[in-house]
Amino acid sequence: MRSAVEVEDGELAAWYGRAERPWLRANFVSSVDGAVAVGGLSTGLSGAQDRRLLKLLRMLCDGLLVGANTLRAEQYRPLTLDADRRGWRQARGLVPYPRLVVVSGSLDLDPGLPALAGAPVRPIVLTGPDAPAARREALAEVADVLTAPDLRTGLALLHERGLDQLLCEGGPTLLGSLTAADLVDELCLTVSPLLAGTGASRITAGSPHPPRTLAQVHAHTDPEGFLYLRHTRPEHR
Ligand SMILES: NC(=O)c1ccc[n+]([C@@H]2O[C@H](COP(=O)([O-])OP(=O)(O)OC[C@H]3O[C@@H](n4cnc5c(N)ncnc54)[C@H](OP(=O)(O)O)[C@@H]3O)[C@@H](O)[C@H]2O)c1
Repeated sequence: MRSAVEVEDGELAAWYGRAERPWLRANFVSSVDGAVAVGGLSTGLSGAQDRRLLKLLRMLCDGLLVGANTLRAEQYRPLTLDADRRGWRQARGLVPYPRLVVVSGSLDLDPGLPALAGAPVRPIVLTGPDAPAARREALAEVADVLTAPDLRTGLALLHERGLDQLLCEGGPTLLGSLTAADLVDELCLTVSPLLAGTGASRITAGSPHPPRTLAQVHAHTDPEGFLYLRHTRPEHR
């Protein structure tokens, strides 16, 4: 098992890569005892190499999917990339920045949130048919508001807009909805060397659904004791 710090960005990008078909990758960090947050935030679980991986996976995607609660709780900043990572994308014919896609049924989102109002490319808000019209109108000032009856249809709308490689950064409710609909192709999980104790949820939440078997693609570590796991559907390994 190699240590993440031994690996240059280019090689790390090749380990994870972009898939050859529409793909949904989820990326989470959890404590060894399975907590998804410390004090309501994932920051306390992360480390330097985990943050590097997060940025690298953002570089690889076309669209970054995030649940409304995570956007609100984690106070997402505009989705930017540094010049090297923009250069990596442009060298491969990709637009400089991925697009932020916020999933929200209620549309209880302030259009002035920095992640929306300050985004370098117009974000997308994915919602359902029952979303309040006034909130839809307000958000349309800063984002494209797409309506779909379910997540499968919603992802198809994203694919139609050229967002084939999707990265989901959470949270648990959104991941639970995606796994329930059998839409997750890959899970990247950082295991943080921390006993977080009681209180926090797991990386997935929501209604129960049948378990699904995954195959491990790789595992690596870093000197701080973090473990980086990557699993995909067995047929895509
Ligand atoms: N450790 C990690 O890697 C990690 C990653 C992300 C988040 N987190 C933590 O997780 C917590 C937040 O997670 P969460 O589970 O409460 O929230 P979440 O999954 O981020 O967001 C849930 C919200 O997303 C919208 N949503 C999700 N699925 C939907 C669907 N199928 N259709 C329509 N809307 C849908 C709804 O928004 P509306 O309410 O607007 O309708 C729902 O209330 C925070 O503590 C955060 O720090 C940890």
